[in-house]
Amino acid sequence: MSERVRAGEVTQMPEGFQCAVEVGGVSVVVVNYEGQFYALRNNCTHKDYPLLGGEVVDGRITCAKHGGKFELSTGKARALPAVKAVKLYRTEVEDGQVFVSPL
Ligand code: FES
Repeated sequence: MSERVRAGEVTQMPEGFQCAVEVGGVSVVVVNYEGQFYALRNNCTHKDYPLLGGEVVDGRITCAKHGGKFELSTGKARALPAVKAVKLYRTEVEDGQVFVSPL
C-alpha cells in the first residue's frame, strides 16, 4: 500500500522552498524549483547525509557535505563523489496542497 503524505500548501511553498516530510518512515526532501515540486529521498547516496537545505542550481540539488549533485527530476547523480541515484518520489498538487508518495 502506498502512503501519500501532505507536504504543505502551495502558497506557503514558494520558489526555492525546501522541507522534509516522512513517507513510509523515510525522510523525503521536497523542493519547489521553477514552480515545479520535486521530491527525493533526503539522504545523499555517497554518505548518509541529508540533502535538505542543499543549494539548487540548474535543476540539481547539491549535497552540502562533499558537493555531490542530484537531478531533481530523475534522482540521478550528476557530480562526484555521488555516483548512485537517490530515490525519487511522486509529487502531486491537489486543491492547493502538495502531496508526496512513493513512485
Ligand atoms: S555525503 Fe553527499 S557528497 Fe558526500
